[in-house]
Amino acid sequence: MANGLDDVVAAETVLSDVDGAGGHLTIRGHSLAELAGHWRYGQVVRLLFDGFFDELPGDDELEKAIGNARVEVFERLQPMLAELPALDVYSGMRAGIALLPDGESLADALRLIAAPAVLTPALLRLGRGEKPLTPDARADHANDMLRMLSGTPSPALAKALDTYLVTVCDHGLNASTFATRVVASTQAGLTSAILAGLGALKGPLHGGAPGPVIEMLDAIEASGDAAAWLRNEIARGERIMGFGHRIYRVRDPRADVLKAVVRRLGTRNESGRRLAFAETVEQAALDVLKVAKPQRSIQTNVEFYTALLLEAAGFPKEAFSNVFAAGRVAGWIAHAREQQATGRLIRPQSRYVGPVPDLVA
Ligand code: COA
Repeated sequence: MANGLDDVVAAETVLSDVDGAGGHLTIRGHSLAELAGHWRYGQVVRLLFDGFFDELPGDDELEKAIGNARVEVFERLQPMLAELPALDVYSGMRAGIALLPDGESLADALRLIAAPAVLTPALLRLGRGEKPLTPDARADHANDMLRMLSGTPSPALAKALDTYLVTVCDHGLNASTFATRVVASTQAGLTSAILAGLGALKGPLHGGAPGPVIEMLDAIEASGDAAAWLRNEIARGERIMGFGHRIYRVRDPRADVLKAVVRRLGTRNESGRRLAFAETVEQAALDVLKVAKPQRSIQTNVEFYTALLLEAAGFPKEAFSNVFAAGRVAGWIAHAREQQATGRLIRPQSRYVGPVPDLVA
């Protein structure tokens, strides 16, 4: 039995398919290339929710409802916001989400979609001694998230963040989605299920990698020798953040989408300089990994260029996993509903390998 449940199929889903050998991601019948940069996040929320909620409105109405949910979440949580920055920004977001009602309606789902986008900028502002900004119900979701962080963003940055949220909206039965489905299978409410997903996403082997990617790039820049730095990390038994994946044996298709987004932000500015440097580090890492782990195809994953994109969008590295959650929450909710609809509790078995009690004669 594999400790990590490798190759075990634990759910049937209509939501997304990760083709690890071919490097393709399909989301409800659409390739990632069709969606990223072309569909707004609100439209993709609708795509994922379709069939899992009664009375689902059209795209425009749903996007308005997400805007209203941002305002509602802000108003509900505002009295408690001042307590949350005592925690790190991810734990503060998780604590804020835990205060939301634990139902199963579309209104519950939209509050959960809204919450990371509202709480993350509010907590970051409070952390730097500034007042949180009230959401604008009429604004586009990504645009409003950036506006609440640091004022009206450029259209290019808003588009970049929107593309990011779409790119990470769902990804098969990853650790956080599985955790979400396990809780949903008990018929607990959506907030409980999403809190499970949030817990799983925090770890550096899953969603917590892009912050360390920035630390790695900074350390390599300071060292001046990418290959030597990377070889030394491997020799110390460390993993290179932003590389490797349980399913992909080729490049993660999301890495290329996000790299193109960063490139579109400009090549002559700071993000262009950072991108050029990151590309040299990426090549050095791939070369070092190929020599160090010849038995395993370790390629660039989504987190490597996520780090650059979110840095360019103005998020500090400690908030990167929050922004990942702001995108992935749509997939979690749809998976929770899909699992609940099966009516089947997820309850695998363990094999006991501990000591046996003395038998009384
Ligand atoms: N750097 C160095 N070595 C790596 C590695 C990395 N990023 N990813 C995998 N490996 C190595 C392991 O050390 C192991 O080597 P060994 O056989 O000599 O012990 C081998 O590859 C297989 O590792 P395993 O843990 O079985 O692979 P996995 O499929 O479980 O790994 C990840 C998936 C994501 C957990 C792993 O690649 C990783 O830790 N990556 C870095 C964190 C990251 O970027 N996470 C975001 C994922 S989207």
